[in-house]
Amino acid sequence: MIQGARGRFISLEGGEGVGKSTQARALAAALRERGLDVVETREPGGSAGAEAIRGLLLEGREDRWSPRSEALLFAAARADHVDKTILPALDAGRWVICDRFLDSSIAYQGGADGLGDEAIRTLHQIGSAGLLPDRTVLLEMNAARAKSREFSRDRGQLDRFGKRGAVYHQQVAQSFHKIAMAEPVRFRIIDAEGPQPTITRRLLKAIEDLL
Ligand code: TMP
Repeated sequence: MIQGARGRFISLEGGEGVGKSTQARALAAALRERGLDVVETREPGGSAGAEAIRGLLLEGREDRWSPRSEALLFAAARADHVDKTILPALDAGRWVICDRFLDSSIAYQGGADGLGDEAIRTLHQIGSAGLLPDRTVLLEMNAARAKSREFSRDRGQLDRFGKRGAVYHQQVAQSFHKIAMAEPVRFRIIDAEGPQPTITRRLLKAIEDLL
């Protein structure tokens, strides 16, 4: 790598149960094999402060927060994550692979919860100076299949968002698709069905122009 070059920022997005976390790990491993210095991180979380906020967001009663409070908490967690983890890594020339980022807030809080994309983008501008990934890969899967995977993975121990109904998750999926179609340079959509190595190959292809 050229000395002093800024690293690349890649986010993986999608609904519950599409296999993002497994694929984030696999992508990071594949990039390390190519000699890149990779930081794996996730949202909500990825820094001490943001991990503390993650507990507030994911645990407890379903009605613990209103959609507006949730949007602010996600934005606050993201601000800390960007400041403490993502920007320092990029500045050091490292690649950052992030399991969820801003687009999850746009799809869940902006879309399914009805707060609107612009409100979420405004919060992101305030919290994180509008930082965007170099590439965002949306993993898409048939909703019924994703749901059955989510249940078998967590054996019924779903977090506050996983507990929301099928209609909510359908709205999330539609929002993700809409955002991805609106930003074709930053986004790639890949099919998340199939053997894990095949999906990892699709992911690598989706970022190969950045390598
Ligand atoms: P995960 O660790 O399974 O991805 O869970 C995080 C949950 O939080 C998931 O249901 C999606 C939700 N979420 C939002 O609603 N907005 C956000 O901005 C982020 C990052 C996650």
